[in-house]
Amino acid sequence: MTFTPLIWSKKLVLGYPSFDEDHQTLVQMLNNVLMAIYAKLDETILVTACDDLLLFTQRHFQREELAMKRFLYPLKDEHTSEHNELSGLLANTLKGLVQNRDTSNFEELQGQLNGWLTEHILEHDKEAAEFILDQEDIRAS
Ligand SMILES: [Fe+2]
Ligand SMILES: [Fe+2]
Repeated sequence: MTFTPLIWSKKLVLGYPSFDEDHQTLVQMLNNVLMAIYAKLDETILVTACDDLLLFTQRHFQREELAMKRFLYPLKDEHTSEHNELSGLLANTLKGLVQNRDTSNFEELQGQLNGWLTEHILEHDKEAAEFILDQEDIRAS
């Protein structure tokens, strides 16, 4: 079993600072959860790390949804449904982690959680950020 922290890299930068800053925080928080499982840290540390990640994720989704609304992003509803689905998946996964503290399929869990975040950023958030950046250019010109 190996712990490979998710690295914040240029690949994940979308160019829209408020999204990027939140995503960077999410990467750190996700690594904190995985580290707590991997290193079998005290249960209170794991619970706090999970609560922080879930709460920050929900706030981040709200901030993105607000930005999409403000810029009249045409795929806002689709993106919001994806957020709702992701929140549900994350909440269930974290609940299971706290209950079982099972490290037997750690690598699978790591792949799943890292994929959960990076795939959404690289697909849905990237598209939204590109749209918003274009709109900002139009408004500024
Ligand atoms: Fe995002
Ligand atoms: Fe998003």
